[in-house]
Amino acid sequence: MRDFVTWIGSVTLQNELGTSATRSVPGLAIPPGAWDRQTFWRFADNAKEATEALAQQKMKALAHAPVEAMRQICTQYRFFTIDYISDLALLVAKLPFGGLRSLLSQILAEELGEGDPDKAHPEVYDRFLASIGVEPEQLERPLPANHAILSGLTEELSRRGPAFGVGLRGMGGECLCQTYLSVMFEHLRGHPYMREHESSIDWEFWTIHTGEVDIVHGELTRQAIDDYIRQDPGALPELAQGYERSINAWNLFWHNIFDAYGSRPRAVSHEHAVMSMTP
Ligand SMILES: [Fe+2]
Repeated sequence: MRDFVTWIGSVTLQNELGTSATRSVPGLAIPPGAWDRQTFWRFADNAKEATEALAQQKMKALAHAPVEAMRQICTQYRFFTIDYISDLALLVAKLPFGGLRSLLSQILAEELGEGDPDKAHPEVYDRFLASIGVEPEQLERPLPANHAILSGLTEELSRRGPAFGVGLRGMGGECLCQTYLSVMFEHLRGHPYMREHESSIDWEFWTIHTGEVDIVHGELTRQAIDDYIRQDPGALPELAQGYERSINAWNLFWHNIFDAYGSRPRAVSHEHAVMSMTP
């Protein structure tokens, strides 16, 4: 099992960076009974590491993108933040009483601005977009392919059980997004437009999502999920499946954005944005 976990991280990483000759990731079945907590967290850590490498690969184009492309790329992320909130509410509704349910409801309350609509995270993000010159009419134009991805996640979350939902939105939302956003911010603030207009740009969203608060959220979520699987080890296969789905959806979401608006290295293809644990 350990070999598998090491393998899946390295294969994904190699593929994303274009250093492997293979075009698709070979599948490998994990029998439901074979998952244990250690295996799951090793899988999650490797997936996170591979995701960070992929984020670096994709996001570096952001620092040199034409200003309009940079605005479009940033705008597309807003649709993720909006759907994340309603999916998180769905997940909270499904979970049993306990630490994870309460923690995710606190995170949800923060996402909603804790009673202040101006502090709701999508509103904070839209102020950032406005401050970099995104016109209001651009705010309603998601990429159709990404609209389909987000709708698909909501549909699966509604249909599947809570453990799958934790992997899909509990893990992915808090553990994965933070990784991507930190890398995105690192490259974004190096953009000449950002440097030139630094003092007039509303950075609040990035202060919230790339700093200590978000790191603490990630750690608390991990602890709460670990407690959840200690109490119900039978949840592990579904949890892993949901997380795998989340990683693929997230990578594909960004792949579509850079495909539409950014220039990207030829080695990074659609196939390479997808990882699989099953045949
Ligand atoms: Fe947020």
